Amino acid sequence: TAPVIAIDGPSASGKGTVAALVAARLGFHYLDSGSLYRLLALFAQRHNIGWDDEPGLAAAASGLPVEFADGAVWLENNDASAAIRSEEIGIGASKVGALPAVRAALLQRQRDFCQLPGLVTDGRDMGSVVFPAAALKVFLTASAEERADRRYKQLIGKGDSANLPRILQDIIDRDARDAARPVAPLRQEPDAFLLDTTELTIDQAVAQVLRWFEE
Ligand code: C5P
Repeated sequence: TAPVIAIDGPSASGKGTVAALVAARLGFHYLDSGSLYRLLALFAQRHNIGWDDEPGLAAAASGLPVEFADGAVWLENNDASAAIRSEEIGIGASKVGALPAVRAALLQRQRDFCQLPGLVTDGRDMGSVVFPAAALKVFLTASAEERADRRYKQLIGKGDSANLPRILQDIIDRDARDAARPVAPLRQEPDAFLLDTTELTIDQAVAQVLRWFEE
């Protein structure tokens, strides 16, 4: 079976950036599992399914018409790459992700990405639930202040307006919700390596993951 590198961690930690670069370096497949939760929230919004309608969401999740191709993500054959990145859809993703039937419906879909020559994936429960036998598990984090600062610069860089204290509070609140929920709470697995990127560049973080994998 194909080796898996599972990178979990809190929001805005940079785990997605690091995971995608590690995948590119190794020539592995890449799965951003958060995008599936975001796509489901967007699909529900477009089809008038409530973000608390557990049976309706679970049914939608099992047949979710998504495709990852040409560096974009497609929902019902439309490019949804930008739409899933909004703050509103991020909140929707964390709501639908709190429902056990939704997580169960997305489980096999995520496992289907595990194909040769290997997979790098990032999320909250990649090492604990989806790929418990992963060859390498990393818990990638950074201080809340550093994560808020990175998100702030990203928004400003895009020409959007941004309020640093508010971003910091949102990050603290989202961390608390993701850690406190009964299903798949965010936490470091006992067999995961801790990668605190507060003082690291992206290149240094990527190099560390590759070293652990090659050890
Ligand atoms: O990582 P990202 O910010 O895109 O994830 C959006 C939301 O989806 C998270 O706040 C989390 O609640 C949920 N999620 C999850 N399990 C995953 C990935 C994301 O519950 N594996």
